[in-house]
Amino acid sequence: MNRREFLLSGVAALVISGPAAAQMQDHSKHGMHDMPGMSGEDGKTAAPEALPTLPEGAPLRDLPRLANRADEPGRFEAELTAKPATVRFAEGIDTPILAYNGEAPGPLIEVTEGDKVAIRFANRLPGEETTIHWHGMPVPADQDGNPMDPVLSGGERLYAFELPEGSAGSYWYHPHPHGRTAEQVYLGLAGAFIVKPRQDPIPAAYGDTPLFFTDLRLAADGLIPANTMADLMNGRVGDHVLVNGQKKPTLTLPAGSRRRFRLFNASNARFLHLTFGEAAMTLIGSDGGLLEAPVTGLRTIDLAPGERAEIVVAFDRPGRLVLRTEDVDHGWMGPGRPDMAAELMTVEVTADKAEPAPALPARLRSIADLGSPAVRRRFEFTETMSMGEGGMKMAFLINGASFDMNRVDVVAKAGQTELWEVVNRADMDHPFHLHGTQFQVAETERDGRVSKAPYRAWKDTVNVARGETVRLLVRQDLPGPRMYHCHILEHEQLGMMGVAEVQA
Ligand code: C2O
Ligand code: CU
Ligand code: CU
Repeated sequence: MNRREFLLSGVAALVISGPAAAQMQDHSKHGMHDMPGMSGEDGKTAAPEALPTLPEGAPLRDLPRLANRADEPGRFEAELTAKPATVRFAEGIDTPILAYNGEAPGPLIEVTEGDKVAIRFANRLPGEETTIHWHGMPVPADQDGNPMDPVLSGGERLYAFELPEGSAGSYWYHPHPHGRTAEQVYLGLAGAFIVKPRQDPIPAAYGDTPLFFTDLRLAADGLIPANTMADLMNGRVGDHVLVNGQKKPTLTLPAGSRRRFRLFNASNARFLHLTFGEAAMTLIGSDGGLLEAPVTGLRTIDLAPGERAEIVVAFDRPGRLVLRTEDVDHGWMGPGRPDMAAELMTVEVTADKAEPAPALPARLRSIADLGSPAVRRRFEFTETMSMGEGGMKMAFLINGASFDMNRVDVVAKAGQTELWEVVNRADMDHPFHLHGTQFQVAETERDGRVSKAPYRAWKDTVNVARGETVRLLVRQDLPGPRMYHCHILEHEQLGMMGVAEVQA
């Protein structure tokens, strides 16, 4: 019997072992919703008529910005506070969330490469520790919000780092405490962090619009419900994809506009397959900044949880275009796979004529060749399920082990290029993420067929589909402990994470 059949075989009681069990008790301790029964496991869901509807179609808002309080150029100084807040997603209903500076998504942080950043952080979350992790950024390990460095409830700390030349890119920040990352993120703690280059090759006339995608589930009472068993297995997929915190906003542009968008998948577990319909997309950047050359003519762009992309879209003719995400199965376990297609944003192209914009340069920058690897390592993703007392136990593992923050899984040398082979032997796709650096995908193997990466790109998160092997060139330049994990946050929390100790 394979794992999928096992799940469908009518196991009445589903028992989740270890960290998940602790996590579930955690929910009651934190006064969140009770576990909403076993819905999802048997394919039944709550009465749909009872669920709140979210207003759609408002003009796309700009993300609020984190104000820079530094009085010298080359410095960025600010404060971030994580605390409970309420937001009105649906008419007449106040929803309790967690927010940075009262905003969800958190305020946009925008700095320039070379800047010295100092962010004073206060944890005002009642009764729970947290951290801020600077996803994808080359910050020292002791400033990177590792689960080993929690900020206790009521505590404060300073996060300080300098962003080197060449680090321009679209990053994000989110909590990374031990055992509570998934909840803190889906309750609202995540924001965009853009590092601008000193010289930007993309024409300023294209604008620069972040589209920060989050995933919301709202119960009939207006609360954000806790994770179900199905969420713990598959990763939490909500009911609404929000763009900059709004449901299906509208962007109005004159005909002939070209726009630059930065796309952030900040959802816990939703794979995005984005399309603008008949408007083709030009890919100009990945997680760690611009590509060497634009990749034109794309109809879809895939963004696994945690990934980012920069695109340029030409809106030539008047009319309405819809940015949508398509429904693709990534190995859903058990019944009740939701339809993941959704309309995310409307672009109204008016008959007014835009000022003619300069063309995109053919060359954007150069990306370093990491050379040949001195070390090879293998990381194997597996899921295990077994019948135990009264039900089924499951675990998400890397090389057969569940995360232990007191164990070092890999010892690496700073400045040395390594080849990391990530093998997915599980029944679900798992997006692989590494802290502290940007890597390059060298090749992908499936059914014995190897495909070389079509172009060089800096990445910190890459989907490893079920049955697939992805080979990465990795170099860490800064010493210290670095996490690597599946960026489906429920899987990370259920053990699919390891520690690489980088030695100077
Ligand atoms: Cu965005 Cu360790 O995570
Ligand atoms: Cu990260
Ligand atoms: Cu996973």
